[in-house]
Amino acid sequence: MKNVAVIILAAGKGERMKSDTPKVLHPLCGRPMLNYVIDLIRSLRINPAITVLGYKHQQVRAFLPKEARFVIQQKISGTGDAVKTALIPLKNFKGTVLILYADIPLLTQETIKKLIRYHIENKADVTLLSAKIDKPLGYGRILRDEYDSICGIVEEKDADDFQKEIKEINTGIICFNKTKLDQALKKIRPNNRKKEYYLTDAISIIYKNGGLVENVQIVDHQEAMGINSRLDLALANKLMQKRINEKIMKNGVTLVDPDTAFISYDCLIGEDTVIYPFTVIEKNVKIGKHCSVGPFIRLRAGTVLEDSVTAGNFLEISRSRLSFKTLIKHFGYIGDARIGRFVNIGAGSVTANYDGVNKNKTIIKDRAFIGSDTIMVAPVKIGKKAMTAAGSVVLKNRNIPDNITVAGVPAKPIKKTSYNKK
Ligand code: UD1
Ligand code: CA
Repeated sequence: MKNVAVIILAAGKGERMKSDTPKVLHPLCGRPMLNYVIDLIRSLRINPAITVLGYKHQQVRAFLPKEARFVIQQKISGTGDAVKTALIPLKNFKGTVLILYADIPLLTQETIKKLIRYHIENKADVTLLSAKIDKPLGYGRILRDEYDSICGIVEEKDADDFQKEIKEINTGIICFNKTKLDQALKKIRPNNRKKEYYLTDAISIIYKNGGLVENVQIVDHQEAMGINSRLDLALANKLMQKRINEKIMKNGVTLVDPDTAFISYDCLIGEDTVIYPFTVIEKNVKIGKHCSVGPFIRLRAGTVLEDSVTAGNFLEISRSRLSFKTLIKHFGYIGDARIGRFVNIGAGSVTANYDGVNKNKTIIKDRAFIGSDTIMVAPVKIGKKAMTAAGSVVLKNRNIPDNITVAGVPAKPIKKTSYNKK
């Protein structure tokens, strides 16, 4: 698919979100919706897309890959104007222009491939990705002539009552013949309720000039859902989570209740790990094989659970590594810690990692045994096979040597560790 140029529209504010954050940066499963669209194009191995930025463009730009091409739409005056702006660097390009919207993140490779293929094989001037939906509220409706050919699109706001009844909609994803698109864009006028330059007006213009307008109907219309409001965002997040969780299960992980496993798009989990209900796994977390995670746990960025770790219920773990066969089974907080192998951490233990200014590190070495309700004030190191009695408060920099048991507040050495776990 060499002769295809892709434009991603991402300049809009997203009024209906009622947010200070540009709409396209609102995340689904830990990642801005825009990035799903960018990745989709990457995976298709067509030319890198040109992204149209506008509202808070500096903020949005920070989320584009370094090599990404972008243009800035000076005045956010409609999708037609946005496409016009993107065509400036494509002045000498001839071929197919594919339009994607950054607020349609659930789209799949298969659908895009099918659309492009159909467009090229049929030598169409325009091919729309259409959908049939029962409640088409908010979408542009597809108009057909007496021969059932597509002759235009009318936006919801401009539609009359009869047109509002039409269930066939424009998903927004469209392939254009570049030359015809150039010609049509020159003729688009903002004669509508929103006073915007609608890209969708290009359809009737091309039709009237005798162009061939085709469509490919999407099988699962939810894939093409546009996110305009927080309600849409919540629904899309659910659908994306379902996809992510299905992939995780296919890779050999048990999700006891996929509906309450909230796992970031990038999480890697090894085979035979079991994730119990009500588990939140945020960005940049890695989990090995044969682990047991949850129920009711929050794993935050920078957490690594090596193979055969148990991280049980009511825990928060952040920026920490737990090594092979370490157990922390009941409520607690572990932050900025490096924990060795075969460590046992009792119920209610806490790393006090933040002193109000810095985040400090806790190191717990292999086979240490942390008694219930131990507070470890960081920075602090706990030696190999060291033990803390229940309720100890280990003060900062009071490192516990290997094989020593401490107790009390503040914790003091009381004996050599007799505990002899292998
Ligand atoms: C658009 C389509 C509608 C379609 C629907 C599908 C038009 C006129 N309408 O409506 O037919 O059914 O999508 O979801 O195209 N954007 C810019 N610059 C602008 C305006 C918008 O880059 O000046 C971007 C937005 O960031 C967004 C996309 O274009 O990613 C779509 O804009 P939006 O305002 O959400 O269009 P809809 O009203 O949803
Ligand atoms: Ca939209």
